[in-house]
This record gives sequence, C-alpha cells and structure tokens, in this order.
Amino acid sequence: MASIHNTSEIFITCPNRCQIYLQKELQDMGYEILDSTRSGVMTKGNWNDCIRMNFYLRTAAKVLYKVAAFDAENKDQYYLGAKDIAWEDFLELDKEITIQSVTNNEEIDNTLFTNLLTKDAINDRFRSKGFERLNSSKEGKEAVIFAFWSSGEATLYLDTSGDTIAKHGYRKISFVAPLAESLAASIIYSTKWQHDQPFINPMCGAGTLAIEAALMATNRANGLMRSNYSFMHFKGYDDTFYKQVREEAKKKALHTIKSKIIATDFSNEAIVNAKRNAQTAGVDHLIEFELCNFEDTHIPEGPGVVVLNPPYGLRVGEEADLIPLYKNIGDFFKKQCKGKYGYIFTGNMELAKKIGLKATRRIEFFNATIECRNLEYEIYEGTKERVISPSLMK
Ligand SMILES: C[S@@+](CC[C@H](N)C(=O)[O-])C[C@H]1O[C@@H](n2cnc3c(N)ncnc32)[C@H](O)[C@@H]1O
Repeated sequence: MASIHNTSEIFITCPNRCQIYLQKELQDMGYEILDSTRSGVMTKGNWNDCIRMNFYLRTAAKVLYKVAAFDAENKDQYYLGAKDIAWEDFLELDKEITIQSVTNNEEIDNTLFTNLLTKDAINDRFRSKGFERLNSSKEGKEAVIFAFWSSGEATLYLDTSGDTIAKHGYRKISFVAPLAESLAASIIYSTKWQHDQPFINPMCGAGTLAIEAALMATNRANGLMRSNYSFMHFKGYDDTFYKQVREEAKKKALHTIKSKIIATDFSNEAIVNAKRNAQTAGVDHLIEFELCNFEDTHIPEGPGVVVLNPPYGLRVGEEADLIPLYKNIGDFFKKQCKGKYGYIFTGNMELAKKIGLKATRRIEFFNATIECRNLEYEIYEGTKERVISPSLMK
C-alpha cells in the first residue's frame, strides 16, 4: 500500500546554482546525495525526513516527496499515468488540494492545463473508488501536489512544503531589492566566515544577510518561525514527530553568540526595517545596527568577514552613477578591513571592475534571472611579504 511513511526519492529545490550549499546542508543532516541539478538535489527518505528538511534547511525552496514517474508523450498518457496513482492513500477528503506544476513539452507547455488535467485525474480516481470529489484551491495552504512534466516524462510529487521555505518567516518588511532569504543563506555559506568571528554587513538594506548570519550562529531553525506546512495535511500524518523536532530545535537554539554581527546602512528606513525584521527573527539583541555611510562602519580588529550587497544599477544611467561607489568600496577594503575577507555580491561585472582589487574567488550565483558573483577579496594586514617576513616571526 502507498503511504507517506514509505521511503521514496525526495527532490529539494533551491535557487539556481545554490545546489552545492544545499548538498552540504543535507550531508550535515546525514542524508546521502543521489543526484543534483543546478536548482535542486535528490536524496531519499520518508515523511519524517521531509519534516526535518522543511524545518532546518536554509537554502531550500521546496521539499518534494516523489509518488510516481511515467512516460507521458501526450495528454491522454499523462491523464492515465496520473489516474493510476493511489491518491486515496495520500489525500484526505476534508483537505483542500492545490496542484502546481512545471510543464515543458513540445506540444504542451501550459502549467494551468497540467494543473487541471492532474486535478481531473485525481477526482476521477476518487469517484471510481466511490469517494466524493476533493475541494481544490489555488492557495496552497493544505495538501499541495507538484507535477514536473518535461520532454515526455512526468514525475508527480507531494509538495511537503506548500508555501516556499525559501522565505524564512521574519521578513515582514522589505526594503530596496532584498535578497531571497535562501539566497542570502547560500551567499553566507559561500564565504569563509567562522561563527566565532565578526560578520560585518554594511549596506544591509532589510538586514537579510546579518539576520541569516545571526540565525546560523545561534543555531536557530527557520521552522521555529512558521506554523503551517503542507506535510501536515496528508493522510497518515500525526504531529508527534513534528512536535519532537520543534522541541529539539528550541533546545538547540542558542541565546548568545561568541562574536559580533554588525549591520549598517545610510538609509534610516532600511535600518528601521532591518531592526524590525531582526526582532521578528528573535535576533535583534545579537546585531549591532548603525545608521551610517558604509565607510564609517566600525570594523573590529582581527579576522572576520565584511559582506556587501551594493546596488548594481539595472536601469539606464544608474551604472555610471555607481562607479564612484564601487571605487570607494575597494578603498574601504584596503584601508579599513585589513586581516578580513571582503565579499561583494553583485550582478554587474563592469562595476565590479571599478573596485580595483584582484578577487581571490568569483563565486557564481543567480539572483532570480540575473547572473551574479560573490567576489572574494583576501585583504592582507600588510603586504604578503611582510606577513611571512622572518624578521616579523621572531
Ligand atoms: C541592494 S540593497 C541591499 C539589500 C540587502 N542585501 C537585503 O537583502 O535587504 C543596497 C543597500 O545599500 C544601501 N546603500 C547604498 N549606498 C550606500 C552607502 N554609500 N552607504 C551605506 N549604504 C548604502 C542602500 O540604502 C540599500 O539599502
């Protein structure tokens, strides 16, 4: 009999090119990586594994539990394949279903069509078993089903997340061009930051990077900021394991950190919003906020990271205006951030050239559809030669 308690393949989606950070998170949780693409990773497990993943993963968007895969060259084949699945083992009559899909076939590439076809297949199956039709909604608040139908092959999943887990639940207020929380977490994972070192985030905007750093340093799971997931609305779910995961996460969460997290911005609105978001996340007491130009940010002595996400001027005319800003960031790194790793996350490589320093790594990302880099600069205390000079080692 089909059941959510059986082991199945689980596909977890993430922002484009963030799969290596998601893989690492999954491996740290003890999961084997079976496959990966630029925007997702496959592992295996049962419902309890899906619950843990939804609760803890910072870089993921959706946790999809596979129920079937079949050839579907046309709509009839798709309908029959979808109707053949034992939906009555997974779905409850008193729960609303929502169908979402990615559809990319030569003849059929309309997701609404796929959603409707899937809904018909499920309802026809229910009727053929003597049950009533299921109520459906576009909201995605209860049982969500996800269909991936591409190049004549269909894979159907129970979407255990529902609302995306790329949002971590604290950002009630946004400011100019905020980063998706899952992308911000991936950016931090791509740096050399150690949790006992300072994390400095000038140009903090809505505070996403600083808040994510604080959540990581305190081991606070995103699941603590959310109360509804799609996994709660499938047949066979009982909340004992979920409650255990919640309790365990509460115990693991730290209330203090070993180092400083500093967030600054020259916009008062940004600082007000960032503070509110940090409050919602329960980490406002761990972040030092300051209203100032990025060059006036207080940089503590010693090792640590300085992570900036400056504006990158997508509209005509904006790029030229930003050239001085990028030059100043280079000077700021050289003069004020000695001994640190500096990072600039930007989608504009022409502006990045104005920084005037040689990047030690150019880490690839996408921010939605914009190709971006997280540029890493190793900023020496003195020159390299001085650091290794024998006279200084006495
Ligand atoms: C792209 S947004 C940062 C978004 C942020 N990463 C987030 O997720 O919310 C750029 C930020 O840089 C700030 N900014 C621009 N020029 C600045 C300067 N010279 N000094 C300080 N902040 C500046 C803006 O106010 C804006 O909040």
